[in-house]
Parts: sequence; structure tokens; C-alpha cells
Amino acid sequence: MALDKPVLGIHHLEGHLLSPLLASKPPEFPFIALLVSGGHTQLMRVDGVGRYQLLGETLDDAAGEAFDKSAKLLGLTYPGGPAISRLAEFGDPTAYKLPRPMLHSKDLNFSFSGLKTAVLTVVKNHPANICEQDKANIARGFVDALVDVLVAKSMTALKQSGLKRLVIAGGVGANQQLRTALNAAAAKRRYQVYYPELEFCTDNGAMIAFAGAMRLKNNPALATRDYGFNVRPRWPLHELGAA
Ligand SMILES: Nc1ncnc2c1ncn2[C@@H]1O[C@H](COP(=O)(O)OP(=O)(O)OP(=O)(O)O)[C@@H](O)[C@H]1O
Ligand SMILES: [Mg+2]
Repeated sequence: MALDKPVLGIHHLEGHLLSPLLASKPPEFPFIALLVSGGHTQLMRVDGVGRYQLLGETLDDAAGEAFDKSAKLLGLTYPGGPAISRLAEFGDPTAYKLPRPMLHSKDLNFSFSGLKTAVLTVVKNHPANICEQDKANIARGFVDALVDVLVAKSMTALKQSGLKRLVIAGGVGANQQLRTALNAAAAKRRYQVYYPELEFCTDNGAMIAFAGAMRLKNNPALATRDYGFNVRPRWPLHELGAA
């Protein structure tokens, strides 16, 4: 207002969703998007800016939330995602086989609160001090279970839609185990996978500015000096409308 600049309200998730387009080799539309952030886990079909169809989402905790809560149970500090991921690198994958919630459900929905509870149960059943190696084993069990579900559902979404491109967005998209597993699964089926640059995975200003730029390109009149736009929490992205 002080600079007398026009403004444009941007849906935060649209910022995440379009952030992979900021990469040096951006994906073309249409694609399947796996949005895995601190508050959301969604699979979407994306046909263009504002043309979003929700295919499935988490029924309870988001993937990032599961990372953070499980990390806390292991005594790691927030944000737990990177910490538990680093620890998991040293873990034995056969030590703890944790549940893969909804892996075989016929839909594209997710549920991660049971996985977090499984981590809680393992931690509770342990003697007072868990040694570093066992912490790493639990971390590995958790990451492997979560990654398995994300990869399986993403592959199903691609198969059902007939699309060949998968685009990852959101903070959990920075996860190395997820990237490795997705790359392997996609290569087997001749799909392409696209990721945001690491600095654009978690919240950042560039993704919001970019979403704004994409919308303004199609309709410059969208930016106004009406500074009274409302905040709408939990606004379904597919209700946004095309740019
Ligand atoms: N390397 C990583 N591995 C796993 N999780 C990670 C990694 N880096 C970040 N995260 C997780 O990503 C989440 C933060 O991502 P992001 O900033 O996209 O979410 P948010 O903005 O809080 O959520 P939303 O946009 O849904 O409101 C945290 O839960 C964090 O633990
Ligand atoms: Mg965010």
C-alpha cells in the first residue's frame, strides 16, 4: 500500500504446486503432482495453471507432520524431516518392519497417523535409553514405510491417468530416500519425475511470486489496489479456477 503497488492474493498450495516449474528443466503440462508438505499430502492431476483435479489425499496426518511427530518421539528437534532422514541412512532396514497404511486400499488416499503410533509403540516398548543405532533402525523403518506408500500411490495415479510425468512439491520432496525410490520406480515404468530445487521445497517467497506471475501473465487485470482480500484457510485448490 505504501508503494502504491497492486496486489494479488495467492493460494499457498498453488505456490508449492508450481514450484517445480522454477527448475532449469521444468515439466510440461499435464502431469500428476504429489504434494507432500508439512500440512498436506495430496495427489493431483494438473492440466495447467489453475486446472487442478484432486485424486486423493491424506485422511489424517500429512507426510511432513508424520516426519516431525516421529522425529520428536525419537528425541530429535524440529523440523524433524531432515533429522530423521539423516539418521535413517545408518539404520538397518530389516530391524523394524513398520505398517504401510492404506498401501492396498483401492483409492489414492493416504493415512499416516497409524505409522506415527507404530513408532510410538516401538519407542515405548524400549528400555529407558535407546542407543543411537536403534534410533537409526527405527528411523529407517519409519522412512521406508512412508516412502513405500508415497511411491506406490504415485505410480497408481500415473497408471490410472495414463500420464507419464510425475511432479513432486512441498518440503518432504527434499527427502533423499523418497527421491531415490521414486526415481527407481519411475525409471522401471518409463515415467519422468520432476522435483523443485532444494531451496524451493519448503516454504519460500519465490514460489508465491512465481504463481502470481503465472496468473498475471494470463490476466494482468487480476492485480488490483483493492487491499481487502480475505484469507481462506483450507480452501480446496481445485476450486481456484483456471488462470
Ligand atoms: N529432507 C527432508 N525429509 C523429510 N521431510 C522433510 C525434509 N525437509 C523438510 N521436510 C519436512 O517438510 C515439512 C515442511 O515443508 P513445507 O514448508 O512445504 O510445509 P508447510 O509449509 O509447513 O506445510 P503446508 O504448506 O502444507 O502448510 C516439515 O514437516 C519438514 O519436516
Ligand atoms: Mg507450505
